[in-house]
Amino acid sequence: MARRRIIAGNWKMNKTPSEAVALVAELKDLVKNDDVDVVYCVPAIDIVPVAEAVKGTNVHVGAENFYIVDNGAFTGEISAPMLKDAGVEYVIIGHSERRDIFGENDILINQKVKKAFASGLTPILCCGESLALRKADTYKEWIERQITWDLDGVTADQVKKLVIAYEPIWAIGTGETATADQAEEVCGLIRKLIAKLYDQATADEVRIQYGGSMNAGNAAELLSKENIDGGLIGGASLKPDFGKIVNA
Ligand code: PGA
Repeated sequence: MARRRIIAGNWKMNKTPSEAVALVAELKDLVKNDDVDVVYCVPAIDIVPVAEAVKGTNVHVGAENFYIVDNGAFTGEISAPMLKDAGVEYVIIGHSERRDIFGENDILINQKVKKAFASGLTPILCCGESLALRKADTYKEWIERQITWDLDGVTADQVKKLVIAYEPIWAIGTGETATADQAEEVCGLIRKLIAKLYDQATADEVRIQYGGSMNAGNAAELLSKENIDGGLIGGASLKPDFGKIVNA
């Protein structure tokens, strides 16, 4: 089954609004590829200028986070209707930095996945194990538990549109990439789990990304794997290298 490739940049807490617009201009010609969905997931304050800057190009805009209520007394938060109105199509949910630094648990992450779908946003749902779990050889059970909790109550039709990012925490920002075989093992496992939780048709459609020190040098091999449909890219999304990953 041919799934459309999706290459998303996760800018994290980088780029002021004016720097963001400059980066969009720098990457504009490098990221052209009509066969790939290209997404820039950017800090909240960059969303409006980036949405304006990518108009007329092949780039889609994503957010890095949001809260599950539409409006009200939630100081510091941003809502799905705000994102939609600004032109956002994708939203990263459950990134390991949100889980580990900001204490987000699978109950909240599950609520966010459901709220994103209800609001017309496509979630990029992140999962991944720590180095300790990898060494203890319990990473497969961990990933299965994360995905099972995070998708509780999510329908098959929604999962068909979902993007799942497998990001081993030990490979994020460390320069240590999972080997293509290690990444493929877990992405294949996730697809099997989706077949078990839903059905084979849903498993065939869900798109699964690898993330963790993906760069211009290792992208082609990772993306050649059967169950890896794209990448969620941190550090390398802020450089011209991102264009090489889009076109790997
Ligand atoms: P990295 O980050 O590419 O810098 O390792 C990936 C991510 O955290 O999404």
